[in-house]
Amino acid sequence: MKKPFFYDITLRDGNQSLKKPWQLHEKQFIFEKLHELNVQAVEVGFPASSHMDFEACKTLSDMAWDGLVVSGLARAVQSDIDSAIKSIGHAKTPRIHTFLTLSPFHMKYVLNKEPQYCSKKAVEAVEYAYNQIKKINPNAQIQFSVEHFGDCGQNLDFVIDTLKKIVNAGASVINLPNTVERTRPATFINMIEQVKNALPDDVIISLHNHNDLGMATATTVEGYFAGAVQLECCLNGLGERAGNTDFAQVAVALHNNGIDVPVNLEKIYETSVIISQMSKVKIYEKAPLVGPEALAHRSGIHQDGAIKTKDMDFGAYRPIKPSLIGRDDDEKIGFTSQSGKTAVFEIINNAGYQITIDEAVRLTPIVKEISEKKGELGTDEILKVYFSEILNVKGAFEFVSFKHLSDDKFKLAFKFKNDLKEVEGCGNGPLDACLDALKNAGFPRKLSFYKQYALDEDKLGSGANAMSVINLVGKGGEEIIGRAIDQNTARANVKAIFNALNQIYK
Ligand code: KIV
Ligand code: ZN
Repeated sequence: MKKPFFYDITLRDGNQSLKKPWQLHEKQFIFEKLHELNVQAVEVGFPASSHMDFEACKTLSDMAWDGLVVSGLARAVQSDIDSAIKSIGHAKTPRIHTFLTLSPFHMKYVLNKEPQYCSKKAVEAVEYAYNQIKKINPNAQIQFSVEHFGDCGQNLDFVIDTLKKIVNAGASVINLPNTVERTRPATFINMIEQVKNALPDDVIISLHNHNDLGMATATTVEGYFAGAVQLECCLNGLGERAGNTDFAQVAVALHNNGIDVPVNLEKIYETSVIISQMSKVKIYEKAPLVGPEALAHRSGIHQDGAIKTKDMDFGAYRPIKPSLIGRDDDEKIGFTSQSGKTAVFEIINNAGYQITIDEAVRLTPIVKEISEKKGELGTDEILKVYFSEILNVKGAFEFVSFKHLSDDKFKLAFKFKNDLKEVEGCGNGPLDACLDALKNAGFPRKLSFYKQYALDEDKLGSGANAMSVINLVGKGGEEIIGRAIDQNTARANVKAIFNALNQIYK
């Protein structure tokens, strides 16, 4: 298979559909972004459409990097062609892109012309463009588009006949636009194949699909596999009405299907965000690949699969590793009533707190119930539940205070079933001394695990900066996890012991 040739139309079809078409400096900036993406051709504008576009096409032609084809659009009339030649003819590899409809409907109801007239005009335009531009630039190329090719199902023989003459007149690229998307991709591709088979092998077949029915990417991708090499795409799918074929979707779909795509895929996300800002056309939430929600998971089953495969190239519930297009690899795990324990576990752990999967199981029904009323819960709301259910468990014990009497002596005050108790304990540090004091008060417990973590103060908003995890051996020999946070590391330890005690003596 020939490598796909990415022909970008953001600065022409994309630009002409904007509420405020871009000015020169904006086009220059986007042109540089297209360079970073490494597209093979840029249609820089429609020089005859306005003085501003004429000047922009001229400037961008000067800026063209080596190997780039710079194309300018022109209707099949001499004045448009002259204007295109004047503005882009001096580029290293200029291309005059002229077009005329050959669709029966359009010729009759819009142009009010006979098919033979249109056929002749199209051939003459190509001949004129070829002869004029070759005089000034031997590298120049001619592209002809059958506007509304998608509506040419009934007169395809006539179109093919005209295209043969157009190729003889000097066009090396034949673009077959689905100017308004009306048909199934398969029907359209069948037409493409008929044209391709009828023309000489060295003619480049190009696709330019509008997205009126939302199938432009499918048609373009399948059209490539049917032999079309030039793919006309627009960044963020900009363009008239529902837009043109989305550049990112086509590039990534081809890449995912084993094609060597000659563009810098890792620039896609950044470029998409920039184009959205510059065009003032928002990237919609669910936009494939680049949408804010394109990597969000809310159902429990999806969250579980996404988390289990998060570091792998192939993800359970995503089409790409996000970094392929320059996105952050973190998939969003949003918690709703549809979510599950894996999400609770992940959200709390990602926030910097320790939780076991058993504890996440305990919390899940509680947060689900809250979410049934509120919708998606933020990390803060889930942490609130974590604090009240796991960290600050209420029970028979209430820690009151502790005091160091000497290096290894310690006085502990606490309430048991509202009864204030003050006991002393000895030990190597507050943890030991506290357990000793509890033993002296009639609550002997064995420590089986201890760890303290530093916390990010901002996450808590409470000024706490240490979290202690202390496992005590329960009445039946089971491990009971006690947790607590505090500004003071010793107090965090003692509070964690009381947290475990409240689970043991319920
Ligand atoms: O959609 C279309 O047919 C066009 C042509 C000018 C190529 O934009
Ligand atoms: Zn178009």
